[in-house]
Amino acid sequence: MSASNGNRVSRRDFIKAVTAGVGSLIGMFIGVPSVAYLLSPTIQAQAEDDAHISLGQIQDYPIGIPTRFNFTRTKVNGWGRTAVNYSLYVVRINENEVHVFSDVCTHLGCHVSWHPDVEHYISPCHNGHFDVMGKNINGPPPRPLDEFGTNIEGGNLFVTLPPIKRAAK
Ligand code: FES
Repeated sequence: MSASNGNRVSRRDFIKAVTAGVGSLIGMFIGVPSVAYLLSPTIQAQAEDDAHISLGQIQDYPIGIPTRFNFTRTKVNGWGRTAVNYSLYVVRINENEVHVFSDVCTHLGCHVSWHPDVEHYISPCHNGHFDVMGKNINGPPPRPLDEFGTNIEGGNLFVTLPPIKRAAK
């Protein structure tokens, strides 16, 4: 064996290196899209949770009177899809100020409804009461109604999902 043979790559090593390289390339071409495919429901669910929903023209909501708005969204949970019904109350304070509250009672999750005679939202399950701004004022609810983030673009009112939990005062 000559001295120069020490630096040469043997046929066996060459085949091993080529096999490892080709194997890695195949792994990348199959593995990366597979992982992205498996993670896509999670990414999609996050995108859908942070959605902006149009509630129509702000001028269509009367000032000072809570007005109900309902919509349904399809929620992606892993590989499953579930239709989720949302019901909320739009309270327009003046031309440019508006608050939007969830109708889900903060006690055990019953749906409140607005009672104009007493000017309260009332939860039918345990007689919980909230004032017009969603503040808990009577009964077992421990904190105010959740509130949606809002913005107005071109006269159109939008809310952002999910609603924000407000602390008890
Ligand atoms: S669920 Fe509303 S008061 Fe109990």
